[in-house]
Amino acid sequence: MKIIRNIAEFNQYRNTIGKQQVGFIPTMGALHAGHLSLIEKSVDDYQLTIVSIFVNPTQFDNKNDLDNYPNHLDDDLDKLKSAGVDCVFLPSFEHIYPDEYSFSITEKNLSGKYCGAHRDGHFDGVLTVVMKLFNIVKPHKAYFGEKDYQQLTLIKQMVEAFFMPVAINAGVTIRESDGLAMSSRNLNLTAIERKTAPKLYQIISSGLTIEQMKSQLANHGFKLDYLEILDNHLLVAAYLGSVRLIDNIKINKLEQVA
Ligand code: PAF
Repeated sequence: MKIIRNIAEFNQYRNTIGKQQVGFIPTMGALHAGHLSLIEKSVDDYQLTIVSIFVNPTQFDNKNDLDNYPNHLDDDLDKLKSAGVDCVFLPSFEHIYPDEYSFSITEKNLSGKYCGAHRDGHFDGVLTVVMKLFNIVKPHKAYFGEKDYQQLTLIKQMVEAFFMPVAINAGVTIRESDGLAMSSRNLNLTAIERKTAPKLYQIISSGLTIEQMKSQLANHGFKLDYLEILDNHLLVAAYLGSVRLIDNIKINKLEQVA
């Protein structure tokens, strides 16, 4: 497995790939089974799989959240090697932002809602870094998890709006055995919070009305950011202590939660 830490070396590597098809999974590290399921798909489908690990500061609106973002690089590299990844790209801020974030991608509609309404500039940061990574890596297909449903939707829209030559694959949310959606942030939950955290999924899957779900979430100590419908998905974001958890479920009938 090649480990590349700068753009010049990555460009050299990319030139040696020739016509081989490339699958790409951008990540911020602290890899879990959700990431690994996307990687597995790419390794099965493509001749080469490239993974990036870059904790992108421009998508954090909260310095504490950025500072506390888990970093498990050695462990991540072991997992990637075992998963059959061909190349890991580990750029620094200077490599990704030679312009010091003077240029950015802004989507003017969906980005301001749901997570965007609570995390100022979050999706500008996500879309900008994803576009930069696509331009560097030049993948044929990129893989994203459905857990971040709004992010996935915006990335699909950006690719379409800018005629970007990359296919987007959506991977189903991978859950712990108690239903909690896998997330790097779960590592920051205390033992007590970890016991309560699966309630988030249980409550949004309960078939109750949105108002009933809100009161159940409050009863279990969640501080709700939002619980709303986007397309045919019910999206939730809520704090448990200092950890912000998000999740979503597909709903077949809107009456189910109205
Ligand atoms: O979902 C993530 O881990 C990040 O938002 C992404 C897509 C890697 C961009 O930094």
